[in-house]
Amino acid sequence: MDVKEVLRFADDLVFAKTGEHLEDLQEAILGGVWEGQKYSQIAEVSHCSEGHVRNVASKLWKRLSNVLGEEVTPSNLRSTLERRQLFIISSNSGNDFFIGNVNVCKDSQFSEYPQKRSPSTPTSDTSQPQTRLDLADAPHISSLSDRTSELATLEKSIVQEKCNLAAILGISGIGKTALSLHLIQKIQHKFECVIWRSLRHSPPLETTLKTLLEFLLNKPEIELPTSIPDRLSLLMEYLRKNRCLIILDDVQTILSSGQLAGNYRPECENYSILFRQIGETTHNSCLILNSWEPPREITALKGENSPVRALQLKGIGAAAVEIFRQKSLLNPEKWDNLINTYRGNPLWLKIVANTIQEIFRGRVADFLKYDRLFLGEELAATLYPQINRLSELEKKLISRLSREANSVSIEELLQDADLSPSELFNGLQSLGRRSLVEREEQENETLFSVCPVVRQYVLSNPVG
Ligand SMILES: Nc1ncnc2c1ncn2[C@@H]1O[C@H](COP(=O)(O)OP(=O)(O)OP(=O)(O)O)[C@@H](O)[C@H]1O
Ligand SMILES: [Mg+2]
Repeated sequence: MDVKEVLRFADDLVFAKTGEHLEDLQEAILGGVWEGQKYSQIAEVSHCSEGHVRNVASKLWKRLSNVLGEEVTPSNLRSTLERRQLFIISSNSGNDFFIGNVNVCKDSQFSEYPQKRSPSTPTSDTSQPQTRLDLADAPHISSLSDRTSELATLEKSIVQEKCNLAAILGISGIGKTALSLHLIQKIQHKFECVIWRSLRHSPPLETTLKTLLEFLLNKPEIELPTSIPDRLSLLMEYLRKNRCLIILDDVQTILSSGQLAGNYRPECENYSILFRQIGETTHNSCLILNSWEPPREITALKGENSPVRALQLKGIGAAAVEIFRQKSLLNPEKWDNLINTYRGNPLWLKIVANTIQEIFRGRVADFLKYDRLFLGEELAATLYPQINRLSELEKKLISRLSREANSVSIEELLQDADLSPSELFNGLQSLGRRSLVEREEQENETLFSVCPVVRQYVLSNPVG
């Protein structure tokens, strides 16, 4: 949100709950704090004393805390308002104004006040339908360092080219969930309904269909069909007649361990029908899947001119310095080295930045003196489920690759990995789909390696 949006959003919230607008000085304080100004600076531009600003600010934070039902302070203002903005649900009827699950107008004594439009919908175009959102299952949104090009690619595929199925793929911690939350914020107004569900507990297809239909149809009085095919055709009919955005997070949990990437767990095999129908038939909606690996429909159907797209997320590169600044790390001349070693994975970098802060009081140079890369329990715990779920073939191959400090060619791997060419190709392809091998072209030859973090993990926790 820019400062104008913040002021409008906060004013909407306060007005909906109290029937009063923010005062000018309250707005100046809110805008100033949002932009990182000190009270003394705000006092100067507002032509009043710093003490007065402090008094008004203290009342403002109390007022916002009451309205939002949680403590709001200058330091958590940004995260709290951005998270709340995502939870706004505004209905088509214009009679309801929701914050989270609470209809603040129905709940409050001020329900007779005229309705204001949600800040997430344009205020000038009254003909544009408002968006119904269900993000109750989504985590809090946090700040995002440079994903501009990924956001632009996704927006182009989904909004302009109207693709039906988009997969955001990548290793744990690379930022799939964070990216899709920011994407929703950007494109939600292009849809009538937006729903987010995590598949973290591997729900059976019928349960997922029920959850989606209950929200989308929005008719509690209607009894849903019991059979999967009937639920599926009801969903497809809805997706044809309406423009909806569905986000399914943690999709890897319905995929199998111990097999090559992209195969389903036996009890979740029928999700393939859902993904195929959404990817192959004509409708007006889009399904986004976040996953460590692509389900096989994505691999089979994706393409630049196809309604199915896949984006394999890479690290955030130099933008990660923002994480180090927030963690007050020292020796900025060494930050590039750290980013490259941890491949710009924001979760890995946050974990390692904490370690450097706790053990070396922020001195990156001291941390990097040691030859052996430090992973620590927390980072190893994020890798364990990803390595543990590999097929035997992939475990063998990743162990072989991890023994090498440098990249190796297919010829070298065939010479001593005890694998036939077809086993080797299948294994490399599958590890690539899981973002666990890196490929580089050198003198007309493709070389393969694993990144230093994964290598260190595999060397310390032998698997094959
Ligand atoms: N671009 C970014 N800039 C800064 N922090 C980020 C960025 N992307 C993600 N993060 C942070 O990194 C952590 C991991 O991100 P996220 O949960 O989105 O990863 P993920 O790919 O969804 O992981 P998983 O597969 O385990 O669900 C979070 O703390 C998130 O806030
Ligand atoms: Mg995630």
